[in-house]
Amino acid sequence: MPQFFVSTAKGLSDTLVEELIELGISHPRKTNAGAFFDGNWEDVYRLNLCSRVASRILKPLIEFIAYDGDELYNQVYKNQDFSRYLRPDQTFMIEANVKESKIHDQRYVAMRLKDAIVDQIRNDKGTRPDVSKDNPDVRFYIKGYKNNYSLAVDTSGDSLFMRGYRLEAGEAPLKENLAAALIRMSDWKKDIPIVDLTCGSGTILIEAAMMALNMAPGMHRKTFGFQKFDGYDENVWKEVLEKAIEEEKEDLPFKFYGFDTDRKTLQKAKTNARRAGVDHLIEFRAEDVATVRPPCEKGIVIINPPYGTRLGDEDNLRDVYRDLSFTLKTRFAGWDVFILSGNKDLIGDLKLKASRKHFVYNGPLECRFLKYSIKAD
Ligand SMILES: C[S@@+](CC[C@H](N)C(=O)[O-])C[C@H]1O[C@@H](n2cnc3c(N)ncnc32)[C@H](O)[C@@H]1O
Repeated sequence: MPQFFVSTAKGLSDTLVEELIELGISHPRKTNAGAFFDGNWEDVYRLNLCSRVASRILKPLIEFIAYDGDELYNQVYKNQDFSRYLRPDQTFMIEANVKESKIHDQRYVAMRLKDAIVDQIRNDKGTRPDVSKDNPDVRFYIKGYKNNYSLAVDTSGDSLFMRGYRLEAGEAPLKENLAAALIRMSDWKKDIPIVDLTCGSGTILIEAAMMALNMAPGMHRKTFGFQKFDGYDENVWKEVLEKAIEEEKEDLPFKFYGFDTDRKTLQKAKTNARRAGVDHLIEFRAEDVATVRPPCEKGIVIINPPYGTRLGDEDNLRDVYRDLSFTLKTRFAGWDVFILSGNKDLIGDLKLKASRKHFVYNGPLECRFLKYSIKAD
């Protein structure tokens, strides 16, 4: 059984694998929405702190076959020692996902697993851990497919896209790990400005600035799941943390630029950038895509314009896309422009031909990440 699994959004596995190799993991094995790898706990600490693309890092525990609740209970009770991950004074949570199995109610799967965990710990230690859905110390995931179950414990805690700097967001913010993955997919070399013409709460630019500074994405988080485990080694964690801090740069010879029409959202973007410690590197300005001009001589544009998911939105947005098209063609000649779009019709209104296309998922929405090289006059 592989030792660890890194999950991410569908469409980001290739980017994740590249990143894992850069972070010192050998031979990660790609899946539909993540990658397996063999490594040690120091690797797990480092990836939790440093992976920008990962959603979670899971430790697979056991795999087994069960056709009813008693079998499931017995398999778990007998074959997994939970004392390594959970103490009686801690709280825990179970997420079950079951498909095409004899036990079809995933709540029942979660309940039998919970009984096995609680009974094992109570029989061993005399007291039992409680379940907490809101802020559990430890999270278990059980997946069932055609009666084959796999159980894993979460080493991350809160999902890793929650970096700790974005406490406020505007409309339809990107998850931070998706923003980081898009920046990686643009092949940006961390040496020229990135401009976002519809920057919202600033996610793309904040992630890019942290990347250019080599600031670990988890630097502002207060806790990680693995810190609650019995075998947690604080000295190893401190070493991992210190090494990451040593590798940080203090400043950059260029800036990032964010524009949006919504002043309130821009204020949030500024606050988020300050919390992330990169506000000195980003200039945010209220400006419409219709009138914006390049704020610097050389750079790339990465944007996530509004998609219009509600009925009636699309008509209003057609004008925004036409304005965007005009601005890019007339003022950004010679620039590479990357657009994340969840709406094929609106993107058609740009009347530009993409030179590259990736499919990625923004939550449940299938989107395209498109590259346009705007012709120089
Ligand atoms: C999908 S959101 C961007 C979210 C952003 N990537 C984030 O992570 O927070 C689209 C943004 O486009 C902005 N917008 C809409 N029309 C605009 C226009 N004409 N010019 C500039 N920005 C516009 C909205 O205010 C909104 O913040």
